[in-house]
Amino acid sequence: MSCGSFVADPEGGMMPLRVERKSRIAADVFLFELAHRDGLALPPFSAGAHVTVLTPNGLTRRYSLCNAPGLGRSYCLGVKRDPAGMGGSVNLCDEVQEGAILPTSAPLNHFALDPAASSHLLIAGGIGVTPLLAMARELRQRQAQFELVYLARTPELAAFADVLQAPEFAGRVLLHHDNGDASRALNLDPWLACRPPGAHLYCCGPRGLMQAVREKTRDWPTGSVHFEDFGGSDPVVLAQDRPFTVRLVQSGRTVAVPSGVSILEALRREQVVVPSSCESGTCGSCRTGLVSGVAQHRDYVLDETEHDRDIMICVSRAVSPVLELDL
Ligand code: FES
Repeated sequence: MSCGSFVADPEGGMMPLRVERKSRIAADVFLFELAHRDGLALPPFSAGAHVTVLTPNGLTRRYSLCNAPGLGRSYCLGVKRDPAGMGGSVNLCDEVQEGAILPTSAPLNHFALDPAASSHLLIAGGIGVTPLLAMARELRQRQAQFELVYLARTPELAAFADVLQAPEFAGRVLLHHDNGDASRALNLDPWLACRPPGAHLYCCGPRGLMQAVREKTRDWPTGSVHFEDFGGSDPVVLAQDRPFTVRLVQSGRTVAVPSGVSILEALRREQVVVPSSCESGTCGSCRTGLVSGVAQHRDYVLDETEHDRDIMICVSRAVSPVLELDL
């Protein structure tokens, strides 16, 4: 029944994983523990990794893994039921029960811990806690220096609160609830202003939180602040965005980018393929050379010193009527 080797995924396909355990861990969050249908070991992962799940209603959704990383026989996902979403999370939370088979990809990681970091500050908002819980578990195992600040509106909405308040995390975790009252929002300045040499910051949560952290860490060294979009954020390409044109200097082609469509998607429609993954401006896969024009940068990867020469085409747009790209 079991085998010592993990399941290879040579064609980039999905593995048949069974729901071994499903439980409600917050008012709107369910924990799914997945194991291989045939008892095989699963590909290893590192903290910050995610998998892609094919939901029974035919949607693909990315979820961060929250269990302790490494070789293992299960993946644990925290899924927030989002009635305002496309229906994937509602389908999972309402229809998928223990024993069901969920086609699931091998893990990918665009949000990995930097091995050179001397200390780690983890800032989570809402369901964004899932990859940071895996990080906290790994850092604790390594006996590394870390702190986790976890913002959840109310105690009822705080997934994994029991885990993070266990003695093993004592003194490392601050859990804060503003109960929907902006005047009770946590002031992050004491954490962000005090930056020990070699510190790295990891933030996952709503776009407003990530933008606030981005603004307050402009003076942190390049590459020391990391973001992950957990897929529940507001869209970054909006119907009211102005259309513009991209000119591809290598091929000489010109492509129109309409309102509500990313540069990446506009290129895809013209069969111009650019590597991509998160499509939310956090992983860096779609970095493209900017030859001329003025970009409106909306990503969480580039710093200001890179804004004149590169652009993340999954989320960023143009201020000028034309952008010339190194494609
Ligand atoms: S695809 Fe991840 S930053 Fe663009």
